[in-house]
Parts: sequence; structure tokens; C-alpha cells
Amino acid sequence: MHVVAQLAVSLDGVASGFDVDLARFYALASLWQEEVTLVGADTILAQESDVLAAPRRGPRAEGPLLAVVDSRARVHSWNALRDLGYWSDVLALYADQTPPRPPDATTRELTTGYDQVDLAEVLTVLGRRGVRTVRVDSSGALLRACLELDLIDELALLVHPVLVGSGERWFDTRQLNLHHVGTEVFKDGVLWMRYCVAI
Ligand SMILES: NC(=O)c1ccc[n+]([C@@H]2O[C@H](COP(=O)([O-])OP(=O)(O)OC[C@H]3O[C@@H](n4cnc5c(N)ncnc54)[C@H](OP(=O)(O)O)[C@@H]3O)[C@@H](O)[C@H]2O)c1
Repeated sequence: MHVVAQLAVSLDGVASGFDVDLARFYALASLWQEEVTLVGADTILAQESDVLAAPRRGPRAEGPLLAVVDSRARVHSWNALRDLGYWSDVLALYADQTPPRPPDATTRELTTGYDQVDLAEVLTVLGRRGVRTVRVDSSGALLRACLELDLIDELALLVHPVLVGSGERWFDTRQLNLHHVGTEVFKDGVLWMRYCVAI
């Protein structure tokens, strides 16, 4: 299985507080044609009002599966996410200690870990189900956890020509050696830099 993470960052390594061309971000992200998009609950919650207000196009049969790490069962917009017109279906990733769901909940679930989702086990289970490519859509806690666990094979950074100055850095834990795969320079000064993670 190939696990890739793409994120937009500033030149000083901050992942928010500047404008991102989302059409370009997702056009580039679509190049991997991932079968599963792995997202954290906080990323979903940050967009929840937009998701709920978006037109319900219905599931896209050929789209990836949206798998959301949600060990505290904080996400409630499952139907709206499924109907956004990008994903084929949604999968809630829970842990043993996740609060009970409503009895009428119909969202598919995968339970791993005790009080937190076991990310390595999730990838193992998805691999057993035939998934070959997973794209992690995170610039924060989920990405850092995946990097700490050596679960990421490829990193693609869309580096924006801006110094944000303050804010959480996307990676601040330990040294990682990377092999440069390629760089594309866009007219507005954004660099798309791709690296393989050396284990
Ligand atoms: N710049 C970019 O390219 C980009 C990309 C994506 C998102 N974002 C932005 O980033 C913000 C959200 O970032 P965030 O860091 O708050 O959230 P996040 O990336 O969504 O990560 C939080 C999720 O990670 C899970 N998690 C964290 N550590 C874990 C571990 N060790 N094991 C298992 N699961 C773990 C949490 O689990 P629990 O369920 O237990 O809480 C939670 O579901 C949003 O504003 C979003 O828009 C930016």
C-alpha cells in the first residue's frame, strides 16, 4: 500500500493563515487517485457548516472512500459528507472506548484501538480489503501521528511564498530523512515539492 500526504504550507512551515488555491490543491491531490481519503475529525469539524450547506449531489460511485478518524464520535455530518459528490461512501473509524452512536446510525464503522484509533491497524485492515493507495488529508495532529508511526510513504508539500510568522508548525517532532522526487513551480510562486519518506 502507498500512503501519501499532501498539504499546503507557508515558507515558515505553518499550515494555516494564508490563502490556498483549493482548485489546484485538489487537482494535484487527485493525481494519486486514492481509494481511501484518510481525514481527522478536526478537519471535518472545521468544515462542517460548509459541508451541511453544500448541495447534496449524492455519492460518486468511482470516488474514494472517506475514512474519518473519530474516536470521540464528534462527527455527525456523515450523510452530508457521503452526498457531497466527491466520495463513494464514508467510513467512521472508532475505538473501543468511543461513545455509543445513536441506535439508528447507518454509517459504516471500523473499530480499532482502545481509547484512540489504531492508525497502523486501520491501514492493515484497509490493505487486506484490497486498498492500494491512501491519501492522508491533514496538516496537523493526524499527519504528525502517521509520521511518528512511520505510516507515510510520500509527502507532497505545496509551499506558499508567504511567511505567516506564528501558528502551529505542521511537523515538529523528530528528524525524518526525505528523498526528493520532483518539484513543480507555479507562476504565483507556489512550489509543489514531492518527497519519499526514507525509513
Ligand atoms: N494546510 C493543509 O493542507 C490542510 C490539510 C488538512 C487540514 N487542514 C486544516 O487543519 C486543521 C485541523 O488540523 P488538526 O491538527 O486540528 O486536526 P486533524 O489533522 O484533523 O487531526 C486530528 C485527528 O487526528 C486524530 N489523532 C491525533 N493523534 C492521533 C493518534 N496518535 N492516534 C490516532 N488518532 C490520532 C484525532 O483523533 P480523535 O478522534 O481521538 O480526536 C483527530 O481525529 C483544520 O483547520 C483543517 O482545515 C489543513
